Amino acid sequence: MPTLIVTDRKGNEKTVTGDAGLSVMEVIRDNGFDELLALCGGSCSCATCHVHVDAAWMPKVGSAHEDEADLLDSSDHRTAQSRLSCQIPFTDELDGLKVTIAPED
Ligand code: FES
Repeated sequence: MPTLIVTDRKGNEKTVTGDAGLSVMEVIRDNGFDELLALCGGSCSCATCHVHVDAAWMPKVGSAHEDEADLLDSSDHRTAQSRLSCQIPFTDELDGLKVTIAPED
Protein backbone atom coordinates (compact mmCIF):
# COMPACT_ATOMS: atom_id res chain seq x y z
CA MET A 1 0.00 0.00 0.00
CA PRO A 2 1.58 3.33 -1.00
CA THR A 3 2.38 5.88 1.68
CA LEU A 4 1.47 9.53 1.78
CA ILE A 5 3.21 12.10 3.99
CA VAL A 6 0.79 14.80 5.09
CA THR A 7 1.64 18.04 6.89
CA ASP A 8 -1.35 19.59 8.62
CA ARG A 9 -2.06 23.28 9.21
CA LYS A 10 -0.20 23.20 12.52
CA GLY A 11 2.92 21.91 10.78
CA ASN A 12 2.65 18.35 12.09
CA GLU A 13 3.86 15.73 9.63
CA LYS A 14 2.24 12.31 9.57
CA THR A 15 2.87 9.32 7.32
CA VAL A 16 -0.28 7.44 6.34
CA THR A 17 -1.17 4.73 3.85
CA GLY A 18 -3.99 4.47 1.38
CA ASP A 19 -5.21 2.17 -1.33
CA ALA A 20 -4.02 2.94 -4.82
CA GLY A 21 -7.08 3.93 -6.83
CA LEU A 22 -8.39 6.35 -4.23
CA SER A 23 -7.76 10.06 -4.66
CA VAL A 24 -5.20 11.82 -2.49
CA MET A 25 -8.15 13.68 -0.91
CA GLU A 26 -9.80 10.39 0.08
CA VAL A 27 -6.58 9.08 1.59
CA ILE A 28 -6.15 12.27 3.65
CA ARG A 29 -9.80 12.30 4.75
CA ASP A 30 -9.87 8.58 5.57
CA ASN A 31 -6.88 9.08 7.85
CA GLY A 32 -8.72 11.56 10.05
CA PHE A 33 -7.51 14.95 8.86
CA ASP A 34 -10.82 16.71 9.42
CA GLU A 35 -9.35 20.12 8.54
CA LEU A 36 -9.47 19.00 4.91
CA LEU A 37 -13.18 19.61 4.42
CA ALA A 38 -13.58 18.27 0.86
CA LEU A 39 -17.12 19.60 0.91
CA CYS A 40 -18.10 18.58 -2.61
CA GLY A 41 -16.93 15.02 -2.11
CA GLY A 42 -14.41 15.10 -4.91
CA SER A 43 -16.34 16.54 -7.83
CA CYS A 44 -13.95 19.47 -8.37
CA SER A 45 -16.38 22.18 -7.37
CA CYS A 46 -15.48 23.40 -3.87
CA ALA A 47 -11.69 23.85 -3.56
CA THR A 48 -11.75 22.87 0.14
CA CYS A 49 -9.35 20.01 -0.59
CA HIS A 50 -6.51 22.37 -1.57
CA VAL A 51 -3.00 21.07 -0.88
CA HIS A 52 0.50 22.19 -1.69
CA VAL A 53 2.48 19.37 -3.30
CA ASP A 54 6.15 19.10 -2.32
CA ALA A 55 8.22 20.73 -5.08
CA ALA A 56 10.21 17.57 -5.74
CA TRP A 57 6.98 15.69 -6.51
CA MET A 58 5.48 18.22 -8.90
CA PRO A 59 6.95 16.61 -12.06
CA LYS A 60 5.25 13.29 -11.16
CA VAL A 61 1.99 14.77 -9.93
CA GLY A 62 1.67 17.35 -12.69
CA SER A 63 -0.09 20.67 -12.63
CA ALA A 64 -3.79 21.42 -12.30
CA HIS A 65 -6.12 20.89 -15.26
CA GLU A 66 -8.21 23.80 -16.51
CA ASP A 67 -11.34 23.44 -14.31
CA GLU A 68 -9.19 22.80 -11.30
CA ALA A 69 -6.99 25.82 -12.04
CA ASP A 70 -10.10 28.03 -12.30
CA LEU A 71 -11.17 26.95 -8.81
CA LEU A 72 -7.68 27.42 -7.40
CA ASP A 73 -7.70 30.98 -8.72
CA SER A 74 -10.25 31.79 -6.01
CA SER A 75 -7.78 30.89 -3.24
CA ASP A 76 -5.56 33.44 -1.53
CA HIS A 77 -3.12 30.62 -0.87
CA ARG A 78 -2.54 29.43 -4.42
CA THR A 79 1.08 28.70 -5.27
CA ALA A 80 2.85 26.98 -8.16
CA GLN A 81 2.50 23.77 -6.12
CA SER A 82 -1.23 24.06 -5.53
CA ARG A 83 -3.49 21.15 -6.45
CA LEU A 84 -6.95 20.04 -5.47
CA SER A 85 -6.24 16.74 -3.78
CA CYS A 86 -9.45 15.16 -5.08
CA GLN A 87 -8.02 15.55 -8.58
CA ILE A 88 -4.83 13.60 -7.87
CA PRO A 89 -5.27 9.83 -8.30
CA PHE A 90 -3.23 8.05 -5.62
CA THR A 91 -1.11 5.37 -7.30
CA ASP A 92 1.82 3.12 -6.42
CA GLU A 93 3.98 5.53 -8.41
CA LEU A 94 3.19 8.22 -5.84
CA ASP A 95 4.47 6.13 -2.92
CA GLY A 96 6.09 8.61 -0.51
CA LEU A 97 4.29 11.66 -1.91
CA LYS A 98 4.46 14.70 0.38
CA VAL A 99 1.64 17.22 0.57
CA THR A 100 0.77 20.06 2.93
CA ILE A 101 -2.84 21.01 3.61
CA ALA A 102 -3.22 24.60 2.40
CA PRO A 103 -4.37 27.30 4.85
CA GLU A 104 -8.13 27.86 5.02
CA ASP A 105 -9.46 30.56 2.70
S1 FES B 1 -13.33 17.94 -2.72
FE1 FES B 1 -14.29 19.66 -3.62
S2 FES B 1 -12.87 20.28 -5.12
FE2 FES B 1 -11.90 18.61 -4.17
